[in-house]
Amino acid sequence: MENDIIFQRLEFRNLTIKNRIFRSNISGRFDNYDGSGNQARINWEEKFARGGVGAIVTSFVPVTIKGRIVPNYATIHCDDRIPFWHKVGEKVHEYGCKLIMQLSHSGRQQDIQGVENDYIRQSSTNQTESFHGFECRAMTADEIKQVVQAFGKGAKRAKDAGLDGVELHGANGYLITQFLSSGINDRTDGYGGSIENRARFLLEIVESVRQEVGNNFHFQVKISAEDFNNAVIPWEKSGNKLEDTIKVCQLIEEAGVDAIHVSVGSLFPHPLNPAGKFPLEGKYATDKACNTYDTMLSSGTLTFRNYLLFRYPALHKIFEWLWYRIPRKVYQQPNPVQGLPIKEAELHPDFRKYVSLEEVQHLLETYQGRNLEYAREIKKNVKIPVICTGGFQQASYIRKAISEGFCDAVSIARPLVANNDLVKLFEQGKDIPECPCTYCNRCLLNTLENPLGCYEPARYGDDYDAMISEVMTVFNPPPFPFIEPSTQKVMSEASEVSEASNE
Ligand SMILES: Cc1cc2nc3c(=O)[nH]c(=O)nc-3n(C[C@H](O)[C@H](O)[C@H](O)COP(=O)(O)O)c2cc1C
Ligand code: SF4
Repeated sequence: MENDIIFQRLEFRNLTIKNRIFRSNISGRFDNYDGSGNQARINWEEKFARGGVGAIVTSFVPVTIKGRIVPNYATIHCDDRIPFWHKVGEKVHEYGCKLIMQLSHSGRQQDIQGVENDYIRQSSTNQTESFHGFECRAMTADEIKQVVQAFGKGAKRAKDAGLDGVELHGANGYLITQFLSSGINDRTDGYGGSIENRARFLLEIVESVRQEVGNNFHFQVKISAEDFNNAVIPWEKSGNKLEDTIKVCQLIEEAGVDAIHVSVGSLFPHPLNPAGKFPLEGKYATDKACNTYDTMLSSGTLTFRNYLLFRYPALHKIFEWLWYRIPRKVYQQPNPVQGLPIKEAELHPDFRKYVSLEEVQHLLETYQGRNLEYAREIKKNVKIPVICTGGFQQASYIRKAISEGFCDAVSIARPLVANNDLVKLFEQGKDIPECPCTYCNRCLLNTLENPLGCYEPARYGDDYDAMISEVMTVFNPPPFPFIEPSTQKVMSEASEVSEASNE
């Protein structure tokens, strides 16, 4: 293990992590409605820290209430949030794992506004988003300034909470992408036009964060290497290409960013991210997108159209033709890295009843590491470390990707949701978990309405109750009441006194 690159430390300018595996950002709606946190999030993050990842990059943490994607995500928009995040960090640190907060703003890509946000969504543009039909308006110079400051303040709060770093969510179609993307940003002022102008908003945020946290605090940016902005709606502009993103990465490196986290796509979800299937059919309610997408019906002008496409099997072919149009081409390219061939004995016999060895091999070859070529090109053009996200779940594959210089570390979301102890399994010499993630994306669609977790029945031997009880472990210990340990002590002392006086 000493010579295994996966378990070698990774040194950033301001942070060292114990191995090369990050838990990638993954959002679940288990915080309180108003964005205050509770025990469920602590339980959630603890699962991955216990499982051995070197660092956790949190889910989308809004820096303003207007910047939420949905209610029930913990925010960092005010100082009151600091003690909660301190608790999350403390728990994760017990396992020698680092915690990096993802500072975020949804812009127009807001799935459910929440009652506090009775307004037209903020964006770089007045153009309605073309998949869900989210209406928006271009932010004024004053609003841009306020949001830039909010990112800086959010970073300072993360630092004050004792966390190990911050990441800007500059990927996947949220507000920063809405400025960066040539497919979305149609401004004619200093924030639109050339790539330098489109990057201005991001650079101002980088400056604001550095002003607030100083130079000695870890600071990374998640970015989409290519937009594929026309992936679902073919007549949209295609948006940024890799060369635009390389330019942005060089600019932010120069401005003081410590690492780049490489993703893809100018909306979320996107046909290429998270890579895999779009769940429409199956025997359980949790197998079908229409059962959770209904919660977004009033959110956009096109959500009803999408709902019908998801709801009626006769219309699935239309949606699938559109959704898989770009992936069909992209996945025809050979995978740049090959892991070891999977052996039958490595997979659980019950799992193999539903997903064959050949299917697992095919899934890995299709979806694992598909952003690696981008990561390698970005890495060639910057000096700071590069983390790559997308489909990783096989030790032999990850080892090759890092040792062949595609990236310095990988970040993993769904395969860790499926197997929280993936890194421990690698430590034990396993190449792949016995019930791997099938990239079915049921976790993704369920998170709109249901607690985040793995909803692939095949992974539980088609035992629905077993699946749901695993998902529900995030509520153990239960979220309410969240009582500060100091208060708990006072309460238990008081109850002892009262019991003694009753006797
Ligand atoms: C349910 C779900 C929630 C996610 N939430 C976030 C998020 O809040 N912020 C983010 O940058 N990426 C988010 N992602 C994307 C992941 O971090 C990751 O980059 C992507 O899923 C590809 O990695 P994977 O194949 O290991 O899942 C999410 C993905 C899923 C499936
Ligand atoms: S539901 Fe489970 S198997 Fe499917 S993509 Fe999510 S984590 Fe992977």
